[in-house]
Amino acid sequence: MNHLITLDDLHDFDQLLKAMQTIQKNPLAHEQLGRHKTLGILFFNPSLRTRISTQKAAQNLGMQCMVMNFNNEGWGLEFEDDVIMNGTTSEHIKEAAGVLSQYFDVLAVRAFASLSDKAKDQAETVLRGFARHSTIPIINLESATAHPLQALADGLTITEFKKTARPKVVLSWAPHPKALPQAVANSFVRLMQRMDTDFVIAQPEGYELDSQLTKNMKVVYSQQEAFDGADFIYTKNWSSFSHYGQVLRTDDAWKITSEKMKMTNNAYFMHCLPVRRNVVVDQAVLESPQSLVLNQARNRIYTAQAVLKSILDEA
Ligand code: CP
Repeated sequence: MNHLITLDDLHDFDQLLKAMQTIQKNPLAHEQLGRHKTLGILFFNPSLRTRISTQKAAQNLGMQCMVMNFNNEGWGLEFEDDVIMNGTTSEHIKEAAGVLSQYFDVLAVRAFASLSDKAKDQAETVLRGFARHSTIPIINLESATAHPLQALADGLTITEFKKTARPKVVLSWAPHPKALPQAVANSFVRLMQRMDTDFVIAQPEGYELDSQLTKNMKVVYSQQEAFDGADFIYTKNWSSFSHYGQVLRTDDAWKITSEKMKMTNNAYFMHCLPVRRNVVVDQAVLESPQSLVLNQARNRIYTAQAVLKSILDEA
């Protein structure tokens, strides 16, 4: 693996899934592999799970880790080529990525969608800027359109808890007062394209994801229809893709409730976190024995570790 920007960058998904399962059983089996190697982590946005689980993963491999909150502490970056930098930006991505490549062996970056400039978000200006101008591997810690490490952790969790060879998995939109990116949902769809499941996306009208991504996927506009016989309910809010970045509705008709979970095949509840209680999901569901949210968060360590190990093995 050179860079991990989306799941499409994985050479062999099944092999990585097996590696994650092996690491999950014995996280310290390769604690010398990353000795004298350094992981740099840049955050342009807040984080709890990604920040800590990625550092823990690096530690488990014996890597050093250096974290920088770039928005507060770094220079304003310029991503345009051939630009006269007489505006607000102070450092070009060419120098910034080049310099960081002198300090680190691997660089991980979080840079969310603007949700205001669709073209720039779709082009993954920040992540692809780092990938283009670095001489070291880049790992996506959630970019404008993708959150591959979250999806891999979700795949590991589904594999761990599934009771049938081909479970029914529902990705259900749920309400949220703020405009959120499509990144988690996009990567979950990409994950489902690689796993053997009966997969359904349930969403209100106007919340269709990128049709390039969801072509050939089953989409329904009714939770009742989708939840029938489901083994996993994966819940996430995302803002409109067609009316880019807009919140089209905030009523609670699509909130996940105990009554809706009763329509399923005693399904597990999944969410990447953070989650707004009693807005996205009732706390009774979130705190129920069927909730896998902490398992997903724990598996973020093993997912990041498998990706780092794969990079170190290839170095
Ligand atoms: N799920 C996830 O990426 O959590 P954080 O935003 O807290 O890192």
